[in-house]
Amino acid sequence: LENGLVRTPPMGWMSWGYYMCGADCEQNPDKCLDEKLILSVADTFYNEGYQEAGFEYIIIDDCWSEHHRDRDGRLVPDSLRFPNGMKYISDYIHSRNLKFGMYTNVADVTCMRYQGSKGHFKVDADTFAQWGVDYIKVDGCFVGEQYLNNAYIHFGGYLNKTNRPMVYSCSWPYYIEFIHNKKPDYPTISKHCNLWRNYHDVVTSWSAVKNIIQHYEDEYSGLEKYHGPGHWNDPDMLIFGTDSLTEAQSKIHISVYAMLSAPLLLSCDMTRVKGYEKNLLLNLDLMAIARDPLGIMARPYRIDYITLWVKPRMPRKGDIYPSYSLALVNVSGQKRTITVRPSNYGLNCTDGYSVMDIFSKRFLKNITFEDSIDVTVPSEDVILYTLFPL
Ligand code: GLA
Ligand code: GLA
Repeated sequence: LENGLVRTPPMGWMSWGYYMCGADCEQNPDKCLDEKLILSVADTFYNEGYQEAGFEYIIIDDCWSEHHRDRDGRLVPDSLRFPNGMKYISDYIHSRNLKFGMYTNVADVTCMRYQGSKGHFKVDADTFAQWGVDYIKVDGCFVGEQYLNNAYIHFGGYLNKTNRPMVYSCSWPYYIEFIHNKKPDYPTISKHCNLWRNYHDVVTSWSAVKNIIQHYEDEYSGLEKYHGPGHWNDPDMLIFGTDSLTEAQSKIHISVYAMLSAPLLLSCDMTRVKGYEKNLLLNLDLMAIARDPLGIMARPYRIDYITLWVKPRMPRKGDIYPSYSLALVNVSGQKRTITVRPSNYGLNCTDGYSVMDIFSKRFLKNITFEDSIDVTVPSEDVILYTLFPL
């Protein structure tokens, strides 16, 4: 969607992956989705370097509303968990120079059967605008294919008419493909949405992340052409901070998402982010891959047991040739060595390249584009380089 927003993929935090509904705060105080939680994420982003790394959007997912609308037909936030209303939260988030996101569904109820937006698209779009919402995730549970195809366009029209710039996140193609078994109309979807879910919900396990990565590897050629500034394929949230991955698996997770130019949305208790996870999230060379202004989805090449992802990058100031990032991902149970010849993947700077290791932040060596370099990747690990033209 060309509305000037998300020229690089959105980064931030969204409640669902870890907190899920988070409505039972008495029984489950550690997984309570309430005002205090949302403000604390804003504080963490502001105080702990996340904002400088690009983390910006703080998004309340499902289960935030009362089960009834007010007398004017407007959505009402849960009065116990959000006692000061949404404008209060939005003002707080904005005072920290961060952005605020919310959630609804195109059916009469949300996926968790809270109030949905069917029959209320205009009033809901207006309400979100009045609350100062900057990002709206619109889900697609419980409705038919035809309805989905119309509803997302109509809801987007009402968002547009509010005159408040709001990032429009659609779950549209996921429901078309996996619930209704039809082919999503990506040209139309990418015209009307800023990002869209292509695949199943992530859960907090390594196998879920591996499946998602495999999906984007398999579907690369069908998805890559719709991906770029203002319009992004969305593989769903990161599972950092949930104790689900080893350090090497975390490196694969964040490296592939950065290489894809995927949205980077955390979903966790921010106090439980481990040291090594935080180092990855605040690694500015890694985040520069994720936020590269060209927004190209890296292309996967399968070589023996390794997937080599290749991502052309915006040329540095003064450079004519693009830089490239290369990720070598080994999900097999053994270490593997492959030979990489940059000229086979489009690298053609005749002066050669300087190779930077993104995790150690060291320049390793200079190479020509016709050199053959052997790279050994440990079992279930990733090597991530950026090659800068000399
Ligand atoms: C769907 C979405 C999730 C989340 C839940 C909320 O499953 O795909 O991301 O928003 O609904 O109920
Ligand atoms: C429906 C949706 C799923 C999930 C559940 C949640 O089945 O299709 O994606 O959101 O609802 O209740």
